Amino acid sequence: MSNALFITTLPLLCFQILQSLFPSLRQSSDGIPASPQEVLALLAMKRAFEDPRHQLRSWNESGVGACSGNWTGIKCAQGQVIGITLSNKGLGGSLAQQVGQLTSLRKLNLHNNLLSGELPGTLVNLRNLRGLYLFRNNFSGFLPAGLGSSSPGLQAMDLSYNQLEGPVPESVSLASRLLRLNLNNNRLNGTLPATSWVAATQLQYLDLSSNALSGSVPEGLSNASSLMFLNLAANRMSGSLPSSLGNIRSLQSLNVSENFFSGTIPDSLGNATGLTTLDFAHNNFSGSIPSSFSQLGNLTSFDVSYNSLTGIVPPLRHNFSSSSFVDNAGLCGYNGLPACQAPANATGAAPSPSSPAARAPAAAPALAPSSAAANATATVHHKRHRLSTVTIICIALGSTLVGVAVVCCLVLLLCRRDVAGSGSNDASGGGAAGKGAAAAAGQQSTEEEGEVGGKLVHFDGPLLFTADDLLCATALVLGKSTYGTVYKATLENGSHIAVKRLREGIVKSQREFEMEVNVLGRIRHPNLLALRAYYWGPKDEKLLVFDFIGGGSLAAFLHARGPDTALDWRTRMRIATGTARGLLQLHVIEHIIHGNLTASNILVDASAYPIISAQVSDYGLARLMTPAAISNVLIATAGSTGYRAPELDKSKKPNTKSDVYSFGIVLLELLTGKAPADVSATEGALDLPDYVAGIVKENWTAEVFDLELLKGPYAPSEEELMTALQLAMRCVTNPPSDRPEMDEVLRNLEELSPPAEVKDDGSTTPSK
Ligand SMILES: *[C@@H]1O[C@H](CO)[C@@H](O)[C@H](O)[C@H]1NC(C)=O
Ligand SMILES: *[C@@H]1O[C@H](CO)[C@@H](O)[C@H](O)[C@H]1NC(C)=O
Ligand SMILES: *[C@@H]1O[C@H](CO)[C@@H](O)[C@H](O)[C@H]1NC(C)=O
Ligand SMILES: *[C@@H]1O[C@H](CO)[C@@H](O)[C@H](O)[C@H]1NC(C)=O
Ligand SMILES: *[C@@H]1O[C@H](CO)[C@@H](O)[C@H](O)[C@H]1NC(C)=O
Ligand SMILES: *[C@@H]1O[C@H](CO)[C@@H](O)[C@H](O)[C@H]1NC(C)=O
Ligand SMILES: *[C@@H]1O[C@H](CO)[C@@H](O)[C@H](O)[C@H]1NC(C)=O
Ligand SMILES: *[C@@H]1O[C@H](CO)[C@@H](O)[C@H](O)[C@H]1NC(C)=O
Ligand SMILES: *[C@@H]1O[C@H](CO)[C@@H](O)[C@H](O)[C@H]1NC(C)=O
Ligand SMILES: *[C@@H]1O[C@H](CO)[C@@H](O)[C@H](O)[C@H]1NC(C)=O
Ligand SMILES: *[C@@H]1O[C@H](CO)[C@@H](O)[C@H](O)[C@H]1NC(C)=O
Ligand SMILES: *[C@@H]1O[C@H](CO)[C@@H](O)[C@H](O)[C@H]1NC(C)=O
Repeated sequence: MSNALFITTLPLLCFQILQSLFPSLRQSSDGIPASPQEVLALLAMKRAFEDPRHQLRSWNESGVGACSGNWTGIKCAQGQVIGITLSNKGLGGSLAQQVGQLTSLRKLNLHNNLLSGELPGTLVNLRNLRGLYLFRNNFSGFLPAGLGSSSPGLQAMDLSYNQLEGPVPESVSLASRLLRLNLNNNRLNGTLPATSWVAATQLQYLDLSSNALSGSVPEGLSNASSLMFLNLAANRMSGSLPSSLGNIRSLQSLNVSENFFSGTIPDSLGNATGLTTLDFAHNNFSGSIPSSFSQLGNLTSFDVSYNSLTGIVPPLRHNFSSSSFVDNAGLCGYNGLPACQAPANATGAAPSPSSPAARAPAAAPALAPSSAAANATATVHHKRHRLSTVTIICIALGSTLVGVAVVCCLVLLLCRRDVAGSGSNDASGGGAAGKGAAAAAGQQSTEEEGEVGGKLVHFDGPLLFTADDLLCATALVLGKSTYGTVYKATLENGSHIAVKRLREGIVKSQREFEMEVNVLGRIRHPNLLALRAYYWGPKDEKLLVFDFIGGGSLAAFLHARGPDTALDWRTRMRIATGTARGLLQLHVIEHIIHGNLTASNILVDASAYPIISAQVSDYGLARLMTPAAISNVLIATAGSTGYRAPELDKSKKPNTKSDVYSFGIVLLELLTGKAPADVSATEGALDLPDYVAGIVKENWTAEVFDLELLKGPYAPSEEELMTALQLAMRCVTNPPSDRPEMDEVLRNLEELSPPAEVKDDGSTTPSK
């Protein structure tokens, strides 16, 4: 990849994004100066802040430049302030009540400061507010009455880690577009709103933990039918849990630990089969653990310790440690627990105290994919970031690869709508209505319509980001691939995601696309890049969201690495085996042909260098494309030249053998250090198999290998090198029927791998 390519394409990319997503706005400022009233309100806010680090120096008392992009943290449209972002600025003092005069404000982001005093009651005047992020400050006093429902478009509210007290206002249960509500670690007391919560149909994430809330869980809470994450832990709540909680079929995580709950654990929760986490610890639950919990195939975290439970532990899908059950009145029949007393004289029906595996439930279908899903879910949870910190204003385009500085910076989210229109309060109120069934659709995935319109679907877990966050993330161009441009997007909390923007006009109809993308979104394997979400915009923009892998592509890693990054035999074999495992999973379990494997779409995670793991990306994307697009796009892409099996030129469909060919090229690349994609201007692409065959034939065999391979403590023997080379050559042989399948390839590679190969799941396999 050359600098020149990037430099010349960047302005074009900027332009395309602008054109298609945000035709109305081309700069961070639209040139309309702030209205005097807005300036006065901002200056009043500045005066109420304490600003020891002079972060607000640009907020000139003359008011000049407030809306021209010159004032730190201020975004405007049409002379109205629509976004304030002053997180992590060391601000003290208080939040002035004049903030309520900024009636066009959509995002107020002041988290991680030292602000104190009460929240101004005027926050309820911000009818256009979408995101309120005041967490990790020192605010005290009550929440303003009406907060929540006062802003019909409110999507996220995070006031956690403050000193707020008093009750949770009823109005938060009436906010009909609210997705995330986080009030944890305050001093809230009183009972939860006993409203019906029927308005909260969008609510996915509710965290009220570590407060002083009392009373019982209101029955109506189960009307919040999209809830995935419910945390009431570490409060003073009591009573029994309503059995209607089991009606929340989307529930994935329930934590009620460290309260005074009593009564039995509701049976009905066994119906919420998406549950991965249940924490009932430190309460006074009695009765037995519901046998319906055997149905919870995704449950990977379970704790009922410190209660008054009795009876036999039902068979659970996961082998939980005995600490999950300690200190109960009389649980039996699980690891580390006493054996159950056989009911007297019950012939042959004595419950066996054997291990859970020995008592595999008959009714529950034990599907391999669902346990894979469980594994995936578990790891996903580790990777999840704070949900609350993500709302971003600006997309900047540039390139990390070639160090081109940020080329343009645009206000995306905040500028899409005509602010003059939504300046009147009803505009966003109207928007709140048409939001019905989106979240009801999938258990596995969750949908959300952002204020920008369009549809965002997440494949696992509670929301990491909203559509607005996504479209407005700071983004750098990572490169172009066969089907579109890939960006590294930075969410406001500093975490990264990779976003692929699919080319125009190559994708199937929305219905077909969704069917296929839902298949891809369920694939979870340590060597396959996980698709986390997709977005289908109002103008048919299509975005795919993936994990961001820090090391970049294998192509870049192999051919453009610095002199300090040695790539020894062990590391290369690790990349090869990882890639092979990923491909094997695709072929055998997912029944998907990659069709486009190149060193550019194998990503390497070098965060634990020298231990490097590989993730295959771009798999299955052909399924999303129209047949015409596939042939055009492939022909037009130089990137895959050199990796494509020769038989594909005869318009044959890719199959496992053509994937094996591509893999063989990657293996040759690892062994020789030469890139088939090295297009020299005069000679065209290097044909690696020909090159290798030529050298081998002339008996210069040792010359063919990358010298670096022979260095370091893991240097291979000549025999190992030759075995690897032969394997690679078998993969690229013709006819295709002579090539091995991936299972054989992987077996051979594993035999070659140096001692104590660390697998991607972190375990070590003793090697031969
Ligand atoms: C405020 O802006 C005016 C005009 O741009 C400038 O003359 C003045 O020095 C600025 N004041 C401060 C305190 O920066
Ligand atoms: C904004 O700042 C730029 C330089 O930082 C300056 O050239 C421009 O005059 C400023 N605009 C206003 C309105 O103050
Ligand atoms: C938080 O505010 C309280 C008063 O409400 C004050 O006593 C305390 O020192 C403040 N804490 C910090 C860390 O500023
Ligand atoms: C909540 O705490 C306040 C003091 O912070 C107290 O006055 C009030 O009575 C408490 N309310 C309840 C329901 O405990
Ligand atoms: C909401 O919850 C209440 C209390 O559980 C219940 O009576 C009511 O039917 C629910 N409403 C809807 C629309 O589900
Ligand atoms: C539940 O909440 C408690 C208290 O905040 C916490 O210690 C515990 O780790 C949580 N349980 C799970 C499974 O996250
Ligand atoms: C689970 O759901 C089914 C169907 O709605 C219902 O018949 C059954 O009673 C529920 N089970 C429990 C334990 O609530
Ligand atoms: C726990 O519940 C039992 C009844 O199930 C009751 O007798 C006991 O007092 C309760 N313990 C506490 C600490 O509340
Ligand atoms: C795991 O969760 C998914 C999605 O919620 C669900 O479809 C699946 O049935 C669950 N697996 C089991 C074994 O219950
Ligand atoms: C169990 O059977 C034994 C004899 O087989 C009898 O003596 C005893 O009473 C029975 N116990 C009960 C609880 O039925
Ligand atoms: C479950 O884990 C315990 C140790 O925590 C172990 O002794 C037991 O053999 C395990 N059972 C199964 C079936 O893996
Ligand atoms: C799930 O994880 C366990 C332990 O990490 C592993 O033994 C098992 O093979 C995994 N299952 C699948 C289907 O990946």
